[in-house]
Amino acid sequence: MGTATGEYMEKKITDSGTDSRIRMLGGDAEYWDTASKYWKDVVTVNPHWAWNTFYCKNIPDNPVNILVVGVTDGTFLKLIREFRPNAWVCGVDFSFSMLVFAQEVEKKVVCCQGSHLPFKSETFDIVLSDYFLSVIRKDVLEGAVKEIERVLTHDGVLLAKELRHQGHMAVWAVLSSLIGLAALASLTLIPALALLTFPLCGLMLFMYNPVTHRMGRSAPLLKFLVHLSKFIIKRKRLPTVTEIKELYYLSKKYLNIFTEKEIDHLFLNSFLTIDPGVTLLSWNFSLTGVKTTPSRKDKRVYERESRQKI
Ligand SMILES: C[S@@+](CC[C@H](N)C(=O)[O-])C[C@H]1O[C@@H](n2cnc3c(N)ncnc32)[C@H](O)[C@@H]1O
Repeated sequence: MGTATGEYMEKKITDSGTDSRIRMLGGDAEYWDTASKYWKDVVTVNPHWAWNTFYCKNIPDNPVNILVVGVTDGTFLKLIREFRPNAWVCGVDFSFSMLVFAQEVEKKVVCCQGSHLPFKSETFDIVLSDYFLSVIRKDVLEGAVKEIERVLTHDGVLLAKELRHQGHMAVWAVLSSLIGLAALASLTLIPALALLTFPLCGLMLFMYNPVTHRMGRSAPLLKFLVHLSKFIIKRKRLPTVTEIKELYYLSKKYLNIFTEKEIDHLFLNSFLTIDPGVTLLSWNFSLTGVKTTPSRKDKRVYERESRQKI
């Protein structure tokens, strides 16, 4: 595993722990360290679907250099190695525990903060970011975009799937209406069932806040119930008290759910030309961002030619 050269890890080693900003970043990494215990069977959503429908179609079978940011347990490293054997691939993540799993797939993984990538500029033809910008802290979001842009080659491409407000709102509206109708129907047909359907309807209504486009107050509870059910089904046993606490803690994650305007704004000052690739109701963006700035090599040739002209 690569050594940590990002600001977070350097400071973590040298700091006495009094810097609250560093403590906050540490807390964020701890969240993902805890998530690593449950990632594969309980927490993850289907990465293979994202691979088949989007990434696979946009990654050529050529000897390209690929960086996976937020590499997690290495699922995408595995998929790339399997289906794009000509590519050179490596990954970064700031959760050491996640990287322990990723390293079983690929040795070229580095533990670092996403806003301080330990690579030379213009190193990668493709950066793959699967729900990475959607989960990183707001204060490192712009830094992460800048770093992705910096490490991409001229004409390099960012491929990202990130959460989208309009789709979330649509899913929330449809589900709330359906459960609301079911609650009304149960009240007239099987009144006892209303004891279940009405509270569920209440939980559903507060699942998402369409105004602030953030997960709502009941989201942690509903997520927790999903995690709990998955845990029992997949591990065929009941969780311990510590596991229950951890599963609830994992359910409380803050997410960046982007509007179209926010995505535009995020990439406004970068050289990445973004195509948000959304269909009407999709709950995520399938972003492709092409870096259009002249590369340093091009700039040197251009400067030399200009000097010769003079
Ligand atoms: C939602 S997961 C990505 C899931 C992944 N696409 C998959 O299914 O294999 C986000 C990952 O980003 C990492 N991460 C979050 N914030 C980060 C940051 N600021 N710097 C580096 N990695 C970060 C987390 O540790 C986590 O492994």
